[in-house]
Amino acid sequence: MRICPWLPLLLLLVAPLAAASECPVDATSMPVKRGKLLYFQCIACHALTAEEPAKVGPHLHALLDRPAAAVEGFAYSAPLAAAGFAWTRDKLDAFLRAPQELVPGSTMAFAGIARDSDRQALIDYMVVATSPACAAP
Ligand code: HEC
Repeated sequence: MRICPWLPLLLLLVAPLAAASECPVDATSMPVKRGKLLYFQCIACHALTAEEPAKVGPHLHALLDRPAAAVEGFAYSAPLAAAGFAWTRDKLDAFLRAPQELVPGSTMAFAGIARDSDRQALIDYMVVATSPACAAP
């Protein structure tokens, strides 16, 4: 039997392409571990899955690129309901730095996280913990 000599090369080319549509964050990285600790500030108000019972805030399942104020049945504030953007990493970073600056009048009672690296770690963790493509950390 003859094995196609191009097969290993093909696999090498295809593997990174397949990976690109998978989890965008390394779930075992240090920032994700730090982000998990930082998430304790959010856990009382936000579930990470859609199945958990509702809390004070909306669940964050599949948060990355989700339109703002999109959880069915959650009573959002008028300003967040009218925000008209999706939760990219940049928007999350701005919201978590100063919720009232990005969405004045939002009912999220949270002052914000000042340190840039802390917000990035928290976002890394949330992406891993809420993206269907990522294994839970
Ligand atoms: C005291 C409760 C509370 C805490 C603590 C809290 N949130 Fe919220 N969060 C809310 C509420 C309520 C809303 C809805 C705000 C609105 O409608 O203006 C919200 C909205 C959000 C949204 C927008 C969701 C959507 O569907 O558009 C994100 C993202 C978010 N919070 C992330 C976080 C993160 C991350 C933390 C921790 C750093 C956190 N929140 C801490 C209550 C809280």
